[in-house]
Amino acid sequence: MDTDGRLESNVVASQAALHRRYGGVVPEIASRRHLETVIPVLRHALAEAGRDLDEIGAIAVTAGPGLVGSLLVGVTVARAVACALEIPLVGVNHLEAHLYAHFLPSRHAAGFALPAVCLVVSGGHTDLIFWRDHGDLEVLGRTRDDAAGEAFDKVARVLGLGYPGGPAIDRLGRDGDPGAIRFPRAYLEEDSYDFSFSGLKTAVATYVRRMQAGGAEPNPQDVAASFQQACAEVLAAKLVLAGSRLGVKGVGISGGVAANSVLRREVRARAAAAGLEAWVPPAHLCTDNAAMVACAAWHAMARGTAWLDPVVDPSLPLGRPPAVDEVDTRRAGNGDNPGNRS
Ligand code: KG4
Ligand code: ZN
Repeated sequence: MDTDGRLESNVVASQAALHRRYGGVVPEIASRRHLETVIPVLRHALAEAGRDLDEIGAIAVTAGPGLVGSLLVGVTVARAVACALEIPLVGVNHLEAHLYAHFLPSRHAAGFALPAVCLVVSGGHTDLIFWRDHGDLEVLGRTRDDAAGEAFDKVARVLGLGYPGGPAIDRLGRDGDPGAIRFPRAYLEEDSYDFSFSGLKTAVATYVRRMQAGGAEPNPQDVAASFQQACAEVLAAKLVLAGSRLGVKGVGISGGVAANSVLRREVRARAAAAGLEAWVPPAHLCTDNAAMVACAAWHAMARGTAWLDPVVDPSLPLGRPPAVDEVDTRRAGNGDNPGNRS
């Protein structure tokens, strides 16, 4: 990202193919793969931007939440580069980075304005956020069990579609009837902005098992279409409800599941019906990418609130960088991590 916040390159190394045979991300394999790819990706990003390493003025890195091994690889490499070049190292919260997809240049982001109500839906999170201003975030609700992406991945496994499940279900569902099977929608208590997807996931698995026990093969297109319809309706309904109640100009979605075509359509339709703007970044900026991390850091640096010299925190809360002793206390029960101290 240049000094004016314009994107110069955005290189993604996906590990999806590597984890496919295991049906999900294997943490140890993920961190080893990070180690192998991080330097080539850095070189590639510089080449694409036509820049030399010594032109870089600051380096931003995800410090959490996430898998500790992968986070450590990223933070250690970023710290090494920052030390060698004597430039600032800026820590970024992964969920906050997903929110900053809305500030990345794209025609879909045109008009994005704070305050906004935003949904971050990924493999690990389903958070409904009232984003008042930069650095001023309130989590209105979140999933009480599975993240939406986790539900997609598990349903895909039931249908034998492999990993990652989200894109496969999206593709398969296009040829199915979303009204074919009435799967449950968990709205929880009236007024609740929380989510729950484990009941929906179990309902799909039970439906498929019952059909097979009766000697019939379920129609995978209909199952995929009906499942993602149920999922998207609840996500979009709560997002738009929160947007209307809080009186914001519009609502936004980001995170891997925000690449889902049905969710994108539901959000646009329901927001329009409620008189709200719908901010839906292009799919490649919704799934994990480095541009959103740079963008979050760029805004924090511009405001003088950058989190300098971050420590890895696998359960980093949204809203503010933790004090170092706070990270240590939270980690005490889960085994300490000496690599983080270096
Ligand atoms: O944000 P992300 O790239 O990584 C995490 O931070 O977790 O999200 C990954 C999740 C996976 O669960 C994947 O199945 C899901 O996003 N996903 C999708 C689609 N593309 C990716 N889910 C539904 N439809 C999609 N098109
Ligand atoms: Zn993510």
